[in-house]
Amino acid sequence: MAIDYSERIPNNVNLAGDKTLQRALEHWQPHFLDWWREMGPNDFASADVYLRTAIGVDAQGWAHYGATKMPDYRWGIFLADAVPNRTIGFGDFYGQPVWQQVPGEFRSQFRRLIVTQGDTEPASVEQQHLLGHICPSLYDLRNLFQVNVEEGRHLWAMVYLLHAYFGRDGREEAEELLARHSGDVDKPRILGTFNEPIEDWLSFYCFTYFTDRDGKFQLKSLAESSFDALSRTCRFMLTEEAHHMFVGETGIGRVVKRTLEVMKELGTDNPEAIRRHGAVDLPLLQRYLNFWFSSSLDLFGSEISSNAANSFANGIKGRPDESQYQDHVALEGTYELAVPEGDHVKEEKVAMRSAMNEVTRAAYVRDCEIGLKRWNIQMKRSGHDIQLTLPSTRFRRSIGAWANVPTDTQGRIISREEYDRQLSGWIPSPSDRAFVKSLMQRVTAPGKMASWVAPPERGINNLPVDYEYVHLS
Ligand SMILES: [Fe+2]
Ligand SMILES: [Fe+2]
Repeated sequence: MAIDYSERIPNNVNLAGDKTLQRALEHWQPHFLDWWREMGPNDFASADVYLRTAIGVDAQGWAHYGATKMPDYRWGIFLADAVPNRTIGFGDFYGQPVWQQVPGEFRSQFRRLIVTQGDTEPASVEQQHLLGHICPSLYDLRNLFQVNVEEGRHLWAMVYLLHAYFGRDGREEAEELLARHSGDVDKPRILGTFNEPIEDWLSFYCFTYFTDRDGKFQLKSLAESSFDALSRTCRFMLTEEAHHMFVGETGIGRVVKRTLEVMKELGTDNPEAIRRHGAVDLPLLQRYLNFWFSSSLDLFGSEISSNAANSFANGIKGRPDESQYQDHVALEGTYELAVPEGDHVKEEKVAMRSAMNEVTRAAYVRDCEIGLKRWNIQMKRSGHDIQLTLPSTRFRRSIGAWANVPTDTQGRIISREEYDRQLSGWIPSPSDRAFVKSLMQRVTAPGKMASWVAPPERGINNLPVDYEYVHLS
């Protein structure tokens, strides 16, 4: 169904045909806009931003570009088209028709999943709230704002489900999504990574590379769901999410490129010399990668999880890309895990269904490796044998079998004292962060870049890199 933009809330779910729901969402809309004004990139409300807006959910319609002031962005409700005769793709109800309503017995599980997903969307806008003031270029500024408005829309996507399918509980949860705030001591966001401050653009690139990629895998798992509206919502969100990861991957790639140029110019890989030249030394970048990767791994939950097993059994949340598997019931078979036991590691076989979080995390880790390979090729081509790496999935975990087990970045168990002594060399130290902050000088001349990042290879939507992507008034 086409998106109706003549409505107060653009949508392709025939909102006008359900007056009660329409009124409820129109009641929530001003609360959302208040939140955006307070917690979003509010200092740029009058800037014209070259934004992408969906006018349809098909290949032609979903990416429509034009200059928009952010408060005028048309946040709305867009679901991917229904797959005719879709059947449940996994679990105990495998092969039965998908659900158009939420079965009563699974209501609270669904609500919790939707609220948890919904909570991450505004959280990231809050985390990125002040980055506009220290943008490295207009191109980057535009990308930040594109990510921000789309995370706002993802919140709309989850709020629609809460309002349309969960009655009064759903409406209350929708209000709570605007009441919790990233980093708030009294009312923090639900998941740890979404309470971490993002005060510089290196963190922003790492966040969009690692944490938005967690989003991709959560959405892929939810896109498999038997609850059809959830599946369709998440399928459309995935098309938007791809850009966020692009911003992260190309952002880090551009930092690497610039650092390599400086190393060549100076004829040294000495971190101090590189820093004096206004660029990011590679060991510093490695520490940022270590931080955001290890934090994002916790978002997948415990390696062994009865919750995940239930969700799979009941068709609530599947595996990403379920169609790649032969056995969609997964009642047989085991998954091998390495878990800590005292100061050594033991292999443990767990029932496949109980290991679903780990199956998803492993797919995520493989996806994370793709960017590292690209950056390492960049370094090799310029004649360096330095490699960026992902730390072990055991490193610096707060959730699951490895929570609070002191390991080095290779995943070897070490003493607590050694861990505490070494940690500041593995993740950004206060002085690293202060240095990165000192690099964050605002650059707003079209086509110009900050000293620490190379220009992108191409602009947005075939426009040149020096296009004025944001017109600041
Ligand atoms: Fe999102
Ligand atoms: Fe995202």
